[in-house]
Amino acid sequence: GCVLVVSVIEQLAQVHNSTVEASMERLCSYLPGKLFLKTTCYLVVDLFGSDIIKLLSAQMNADVVCHALEFCKQDSGQPFCHLYPLPKEAWKFTLERARQIVKKSPTLKYSRSGSGICSLPFLTKICQKIKRAIETSVPLKDIDSDKYSIFPTLRGYHWRGRDCNDNNKLVYPGRRPDNWDVHQDTNCNGIWGVDPKDGIPYEKKFCEGSQPRGIILLGDSAGAHFHISPEWITASQMSSNSFSNLPVALSDEIDWPQLSGVTGFLDPTSRIKEKSIYLRLRERNHCNHRDYQNISKNGASSRNLKRFLESLSRNQLLDQPAIVIYAMIGNDVCNGKADPVPEMTTPEKLYSNVMQTLKYLNAHLPNGSHVIFYGLPDGTFLWDNLHNRYHPLGQLNKDVTYAQMYSFLNCLQVSPCHGWMSSNKTLRTLTSERAEQLSNTLKKIATSEKFTNFDLFYMDFAFHEIIQEWQERGGQPWQLIEPVDGFHPNEAASVLLADHFWKTVQLRWPHILGKENPFNPQIEKVFGDQGGH
Ligand SMILES: *[C@@H]1O[C@H](CO)[C@@H](O)[C@H](O)[C@H]1NC(C)=O
Ligand SMILES: *[C@@H]1O[C@H](CO)[C@@H](O)[C@H](O)[C@H]1NC(C)=O
Ligand SMILES: *[C@@H]1O[C@H](CO)[C@@H](O)[C@H](O)[C@H]1NC(C)=O
Ligand SMILES: *[C@@H]1O[C@H](CO)[C@@H](O)[C@H](O)[C@H]1NC(C)=O
Repeated sequence: GCVLVVSVIEQLAQVHNSTVEASMERLCSYLPGKLFLKTTCYLVVDLFGSDIIKLLSAQMNADVVCHALEFCKQDSGQPFCHLYPLPKEAWKFTLERARQIVKKSPTLKYSRSGSGICSLPFLTKICQKIKRAIETSVPLKDIDSDKYSIFPTLRGYHWRGRDCNDNNKLVYPGRRPDNWDVHQDTNCNGIWGVDPKDGIPYEKKFCEGSQPRGIILLGDSAGAHFHISPEWITASQMSSNSFSNLPVALSDEIDWPQLSGVTGFLDPTSRIKEKSIYLRLRERNHCNHRDYQNISKNGASSRNLKRFLESLSRNQLLDQPAIVIYAMIGNDVCNGKADPVPEMTTPEKLYSNVMQTLKYLNAHLPNGSHVIFYGLPDGTFLWDNLHNRYHPLGQLNKDVTYAQMYSFLNCLQVSPCHGWMSSNKTLRTLTSERAEQLSNTLKKIATSEKFTNFDLFYMDFAFHEIIQEWQERGGQPWQLIEPVDGFHPNEAASVLLADHFWKTVQLRWPHILGKENPFNPQIEKVFGDQGGH
């Protein structure tokens, strides 16, 4: 964190040909004013600014600054971690010189007191928030138990269909209509009341026999569309606009489900026009309006899914069937350990985890539901396409490649996927082999196991096909990966994947998607946007 912030300060000074002091002022002024972000920024500058100025003015780089201020430490027995190339003179000597510069610094007493900057009273809250949001390996807490909401963030309607009556627990998206919704819209699809011309309830007229169904995603950070805006760290493009989306992002755990390929409902911000799976299901049958749930969690895997699976909301007696997509695409082989291999899920363990999940689903999904497994991708395309490109932090001075960023994260043991984000080819191959074994296990389960309330399918996570499709549209493979973390599929990739998913299902298992509703035009005529999202 320190290396990142100091790099941005340094680069802002460079871009604007200003002093370090003015650059820190500038960074704080860019932060949104409503929250305490801006105030916090000024307090930090007040406390650490003078040391940072002295060190940067002495041509120290961000690694040296952060070690001198003791935000970064080298634990005994651990390698020395650095993002930038080492200084020409010996590291020890440079650091000693830096320490002389900040000797007697009042700030050191904070960094020495344990957890560094986060031990400052005014910073604990925001540190906790950021930590919870970013750390993908922390134990997962249950997602809010009051399941549907009229609020967008904090696991509200960005994550699942907007509630239309927050005071009535029997009103929510996805249920079968009560008394054909004569008096109120009990399933929140925007269709209710009685046609005055013939006295027939609209819900009965337009939706009966249309086989409505919802979409539920059980996913990880890729499913939640984890995204750190490059504008937050790219000095050359930074302005007050760059951070306007930061408060919302922090309250959504830095995920953007409202834009995701499966359950997204906002128009994509990228130049791709394809729609999310939810929007397509809704287009096919407007009675499906708002029936989506995105049960995704950063860091989710077959091992920890059971800890938040209970937040899935489906009543076997009252609700419509659902299409459930199981997309734990990385964390069973991805971790940040120094030796990641022993931490990976074995095929045997995966088998038992997944069977447990399926038993739970069979006990909670209405009859006639469908479950589709996604396999794991072969992540070697990450290294192959990124390692010699510059990371957003390194573009200004051409000094930080993804290979360096990966190695920095591995050294700190905080990489989201040491196995694939590594210069060690043997390790990358081992990781791919394990991923393939796990995919084969899922495939085996899908073909051999039977459940009473849903049928079960397996689909490859065909990232190479997505890349091919993208290249045919004139794109480059690296443009499909989140630029800041160098790991997650980005919004364009997520939408292309949704497109691939839809086409595959249409071709191989069309019954999953249900029928086209012939009353769609009439629904639009009577109910307009059905209350929007
Ligand atoms: C940067 O600022 C310094 C002092 O204000 C000035 O001498 C120098 O010419 C400026 N450089 C550029 C590239 O504008
Ligand atoms: C699901 O929600 C998560 C947040 O939990 C979001 O990051 C992700 O993009 C969503 N995924 C899909 C496919 O809708
Ligand atoms: C579940 O639905 C299928 C058809 O989709 C039907 O054949 C089966 O009998 C149903 N099972 C129960 C327990 O209702
Ligand atoms: C590369 O990874 C393999 C598998 O984890 C490991 O055995 C080997 O020591 C690593 N090589 C280097 C140079 O770190």
